[in-house]
Amino acid sequence: MRCDETVCVSDDPNRLAEKAADIFVADSGRSVDQRGVFAVALSGGTTPRGMHRRLVTAPWLAGIPWSHTHFFWVDDRCVPPESRESNYGTAKRDFLNDAPISPDQIHGMTCRLSPLTAAEKYQDRLLAFFTDAKMTVPRFDLIFLGLGEDGHTASLFPGQSSLVEQEKLVVATRGGNPDVDRISMTFSLLNLARHVVFLVSGLEKSRVTRMVLTQPGIHLPAQAIRPSGGRLTWLLDRAAASLLPADFQSCSIDV
Ligand code: 6PG
Repeated sequence: MRCDETVCVSDDPNRLAEKAADIFVADSGRSVDQRGVFAVALSGGTTPRGMHRRLVTAPWLAGIPWSHTHFFWVDDRCVPPESRESNYGTAKRDFLNDAPISPDQIHGMTCRLSPLTAAEKYQDRLLAFFTDAKMTVPRFDLIFLGLGEDGHTASLFPGQSSLVEQEKLVVATRGGNPDVDRISMTFSLLNLARHVVFLVSGLEKSRVTRMVLTQPGIHLPAQAIRPSGGRLTWLLDRAAASLLPADFQSCSIDV
């Protein structure tokens, strides 16, 4: 197992969501102490929603430096924010509408223009944010990722050219469920992060979780997540971890 990885197995999806919220609180406090700002990128799908909802409840709500926190998205589907398929819209409805935060700290992905143009505009927006924050490198403090049964993460799907993108930080892609146009951060940007946390839950993810963590040579998209000089944490529930070798868990998250 690669040494810079931590694999943590929680009893159930609720404990997983609580641990993820604990990490959010810990990393946000550390980042604001060190740099005065906390830049976090969220994923879509089902698994992170339990964590999202907890962020605006006790004890996590009071532990987050909201006025210094900026929310971005790892990826989104090119659908209107009102759609239940919108990652940005869902997060707004799940917790951001109830968070003590101003709209200019919420950097949603929108595709009102073509996906290509939307990707370029989002790249410009996040580069402008990091420049304003006096950071020459767009290094997120914390990025949450999910894992698809086909090994995709963000909206970076097997066999697509986006997997080998070296220049762009945000690209237009298509695929997944729903099978729609999307925009997604690339590995070039994701691997600059200080801390990347995969949230993986459910029996249906057990096979791909074992493949990703025990068969490094098969080159599934999620295996390309290697934060250079950063931490990589896998938060799994017992069902998702059920096919891993017994001695795999190495959780010692010092939250
Ligand atoms: C998306 C996501 C995607 C997601 C995985 C896992 O917009 O579809 O960002 O990468 O994280 O598909 O999704 P679940 O958590 O719903 O299993």
